[in-house]
Amino acid sequence: MTAETIDIQYEDLSHLEVVEALLDEAFGPGRFARTAYRLREGTVPVPELSFVAVQGERPIGAVRLSPITIGDADALFLGPLVVHPDCKNRGYGLALMNRALEAARAGGHRLVVLVGDAPYYARAGFKPIPPGQVTLPGPVDPNRLLALELVEGALSGVSGMARPAPGDETGSAAFAVPGKPEGAEQQGKAEQAG
Ligand SMILES: CC(C)(COP(=O)(O)OP(=O)(O)OC[C@H]1O[C@@H](n2cnc3c(N)ncnc32)[C@H](O)[C@@H]1OP(=O)(O)O)[C@@H](O)C(=O)NCCC(=O)NCCS
Repeated sequence: MTAETIDIQYEDLSHLEVVEALLDEAFGPGRFARTAYRLREGTVPVPELSFVAVQGERPIGAVRLSPITIGDADALFLGPLVVHPDCKNRGYGLALMNRALEAARAGGHRLVVLVGDAPYYARAGFKPIPPGQVTLPGPVDPNRLLALELVEGALSGVSGMARPAPGDETGSAAFAVPGKPEGAEQQGKAEQAG
């Protein structure tokens, strides 16, 4: 794939097949058993906060933000974030993430959490959540549970179990999830990436 300008657009139904293929390639069929997937499973990504990076007409990366609650506080969960293997290290992942975070900030959201590699997500301002403050519905390496305060102090006083929040079904058709493969219920292995 040659280097080419990318365009960041809202994700819609026309992108779904290619984005799902990117996710399959990056995370494999086991992605349906991951803790992050289980957290997202009961909700739908926010269409205004979910983007694709398009090269020519082909999506080469995507990011989604989904509504969750932590205790009784509203928050967003970032993930998946994916970039095609041939397009890595060109800043597309960070550009996608920053676009989604800017949209979240503009939309009045206060807090974003994710499961991922701290050194990478620190580039967008994410920091580790103090151990024990937030729990997820499955095993997660605490060093990989990260938060970004879109509003200063948004994490303080927020604690408890992160759960999916009912999403706005309007416009959510783009995020219909294909059938889970056999064995998707396996659990127990600490999540390695969001
Ligand atoms: C993680 C991912 C989205 C990064 O996308 P990308 O477009 O290559 O990232 P960027 O171009 O914005 O950033 C590249 C930089 O981040 C670094 N980086 C990438 N992944 C990293 C990681 N997991 N940990 C630390 N640094 C990382 C690269 O070494 C590079 O560093 P440099 O700028 O010093 O050369 C992409 O590698 C990917 O899709 N991976 C598979 C799926 C995945 O793991 N997603 C994240 C969990 S949801």
